[in-house]
Amino acid sequence: MSAEVFDGRTAFVSFTYLAASIAFILGLRGLTKPETARRGLQLAAFGMVAAIAGTLVNHEIITYTWCLVGLTLGTALGWPLGQRVAMTQMPQRIAISHLFGALAATLVGVAEYTHHVWGHLELGRAQVLALSFEVLFGALTVSGSFMAFGKLHEILPGRGITFPMQNLVNLTIFTSSVGLMGYLVYEPTASWAFFTMLGLSFLAGFMMVLPIGGADMPVVVSLLNSYAGLAASATGFALGNAVLIICGALDGASGFLLSVLMSKAMNRSFGNVLFGAFGSQVKAVAASSAKGEMKEVSLEDAALALRYARSVVVVPGYGLAVAQAQKLVGELAELLEGHGNDVKYAIHPVAGRMPGHMNVLLAEANISYEKMVEMEDINEKFSEVDVAVVIGANDVVNPAAKRDPGSSIYGMPVLNVDQAKRVIVLKRGKGTGFAGIENELFIDERTSLLFGDAKATLQRLVTELKTL
Ligand code: TAP
Repeated sequence: MSAEVFDGRTAFVSFTYLAASIAFILGLRGLTKPETARRGLQLAAFGMVAAIAGTLVNHEIITYTWCLVGLTLGTALGWPLGQRVAMTQMPQRIAISHLFGALAATLVGVAEYTHHVWGHLELGRAQVLALSFEVLFGALTVSGSFMAFGKLHEILPGRGITFPMQNLVNLTIFTSSVGLMGYLVYEPTASWAFFTMLGLSFLAGFMMVLPIGGADMPVVVSLLNSYAGLAASATGFALGNAVLIICGALDGASGFLLSVLMSKAMNRSFGNVLFGAFGSQVKAVAASSAKGEMKEVSLEDAALALRYARSVVVVPGYGLAVAQAQKLVGELAELLEGHGNDVKYAIHPVAGRMPGHMNVLLAEANISYEKMVEMEDINEKFSEVDVAVVIGANDVVNPAAKRDPGSSIYGMPVLNVDQAKRVIVLKRGKGTGFAGIENELFIDERTSLLFGDAKATLQRLVTELKTL
């Protein structure tokens, strides 16, 4: 009878783990397109529920009390985090999630190791290798994510901190940690080596993120995501848990690919982001060849230009997210479309502060994904655009990236807004963008500016358009 119960349980656990793995894979696939992203997320969430259900009926669970405490605590922290954190704070929100995920993996690794070594249980070489790998990458991700969170949330200085031979020092710390992992395979019960490796890995995470400026943190967060995935995968090997191996590998691979794609979209090599301390330098190279005066446009003129433009392209940027003016953008577009104007949205891959930031923002205003056109598809068509409305975007429309080899963003692909027949820019003042450099587009003769917070300006523009 008990054998039957055991088999039924094992079958249920295997089934839920299989279902969870399939849901994670299909969920990730869904996330590759904005139209299917919501469904992808729902599938991934279903996968997570299935994985938790399978784990809870696992016969290896000794007491449910701690599971319940963990679930309650996790929900109490996670729910408000998901509800209250602003979209613009999403990168640091993700960093803190990685910190928790990696901390869990590290603690499981330490608990498994000490349970075996201090309990004088057998600990094979393969098992100690998996545990050490888990702890090494877990600890590195915990301290690295803490640094990334602190820099993004501005509780730590955003600029990168550098010192002579930094890369050599960092490499020495990391390789010593890896060396100790190798030693543990040879001598699994050497707990001094295990704990020294743990300490060195924590230090490696701090040191790795120290020289990187706040500017490059989203790439770092994505890379740490990949490390957390690798740690989870190793946990799966150590515990013999298939779903952890699969979802950790998915996490590891997707995080790494995303970091590479983000670096590419900023025209930076991956190595340059990690070892170049870019974010610390850009503010210092704020000087640029852009000289001239920005000219203002009156609200009435801007409204008239939009009303009689056949084609309008809205270029959203980080400032739109800050102003939370997406609903008003939708309202403005609706008014223009009511007059028969064609309105599209030009999406730069790194506009805002995280991948897909602008798509999500505009989708919140019920703007159809079909009207959001990716940079490579719209760039050739800017010369036919009557009015390009740049709302809180700066670096992603800076022509210096195409023309000025001395510019810190030279080579970064940008939107060809400078080719539109007329450009209207909504920004608060003369502030620079993320890269801290001036923008020639703003002093171009075809460009005029509407100064003020994007939300207030859009509200006034909508009111004015209604009178025309
Ligand atoms: P930014 O270059 O950051 O420019 C934002 C502009 O918005 C500023 O010029 C600012 O000017 C204006 N602004 C701020 N608050 C505003 C408000 N309330 N109302 C109106 N305007 C406001 O933005 P972008 O063009 O989207 O470029 C994104 C940058 O982030 C790129 O350099 C990119 O490489 C970097 N980055 C992005 C990512 C991802 S994945 N998206 C990751 C890492 C780095 P005022 O101060 O004058 O208003």
